[in-house]
Amino acid sequence: MNIKSVLAASTAVMLAGPVMAEPTVEVLHWWTSGSEAQSVAVLQEQFKAEGGTWTDMPVAGGGGDAAMTALRARVLSGNAPTAVQLKGPAIQEWYEETGLADISAVAEENNWADVLPAQIAEHMKCEGQWCAAPVNVHRVNWLWGNKQILDDNGIEMPTTWDEFNAAAEKLQAAGITPLAHGGQSWQDATIFETVVLGLGGPEFFQKALIDLDPEALNSDTMKQVFDEMRIIRGYVDDNFSGRDWNLATAMVMNGEAAFQIMGDWAKGEFLAAGKEPGTDFVCAQTPGTGFLYNVDSFAFFELDGEEKQQGQALLAKLIMGPEFQKTFNLNKGSIPARTDIALDDFDSCAVESNKAMTAGAQNGSLLPSFAHGMALRGAQAGAITDVVTAHFNSDMSSDDAVQQLVDAVANSM
Ligand code: GAL
Repeated sequence: MNIKSVLAASTAVMLAGPVMAEPTVEVLHWWTSGSEAQSVAVLQEQFKAEGGTWTDMPVAGGGGDAAMTALRARVLSGNAPTAVQLKGPAIQEWYEETGLADISAVAEENNWADVLPAQIAEHMKCEGQWCAAPVNVHRVNWLWGNKQILDDNGIEMPTTWDEFNAAAEKLQAAGITPLAHGGQSWQDATIFETVVLGLGGPEFFQKALIDLDPEALNSDTMKQVFDEMRIIRGYVDDNFSGRDWNLATAMVMNGEAAFQIMGDWAKGEFLAAGKEPGTDFVCAQTPGTGFLYNVDSFAFFELDGEEKQQGQALLAKLIMGPEFQKTFNLNKGSIPARTDIALDDFDSCAVESNKAMTAGAQNGSLLPSFAHGMALRGAQAGAITDVVTAHFNSDMSSDDAVQQLVDAVANSM
């Protein structure tokens, strides 16, 4: 460098004032479907607009199993990402294992405690300090239907599992695949938990999948749940194995199947394809009552470097920003985690979701999703999912499945 450019460079620094670290984040997440990518892009844009540098680390695989494996590998090799999509008890598990950055200053400055439902706020805390930031509330127990197919076949959205079975038989007789499903273990578990809720009711769900009460696990009701799972297995097409959830949603969209049982991230896909609720597709709670919630959130590892710490603080602040919570959730199919966002621009399914959540909080049927890592620690959730998948993909009897469930849960403690 000659003297002239040295001087020019130092003048530039002087003009710019004291050197501020530029907020930087590397964000590990599993939002790779069309609507998911569109949703996370909102955050990325806002982060960049605030002068930040975003490095994206998407790990494909619905439900996040692959992302969590990638996360573990990164942490074990001493290279933790600045921010990670993390939710439910996994937040506290990581906190215990490695520590997580304390974002209480951001949370307090922005009054998170005043705008979040207490139950959600609780998930975001580690030993009293804020250690995660929530982006949304997804409802898991949704049934999606292709309006045209249902109308053509004189079928109403079922409100009991018997009605669901009757509708499915009718569709099958007409040569239509009743249920679009992706045979991945988290999707099997998603159906399973809606059947547990529907056949057993909220109290049974609480006992079986949250309290892991041996009596509930080893009950006739649980046997009936596996009976229904076996029936449902008969309603999926031959190519269901390994299919991604959004491809199953596309089957309903394109008239290749009548129904899908999936959380309302499926609605994000319908909307991204320009489909209208009530016109092209219909939403209804899966047979039964209650609200299985799945709250997506981000947590931050304790890392050195001012630019990383500033990046974490900025990201946490943006995630809980009213504007972001609205735009993100319009794309994602969920509703805002903040209770002070008007839902005027949201569709009828979102409004219905919000109503059910409020009712659920009042009558005790607002329950954390087991299949989406909100209810149990990893070992227990994994043990149950393994049994559910093994049953779904074999001719295992319901009696054997119940026994395996009891044993697997006991062994996972
Ligand atoms: C869930 C997650 C949703 C959605 C879905 C499919 O676990 O909470 O936001 O991404 O997986 O990937």
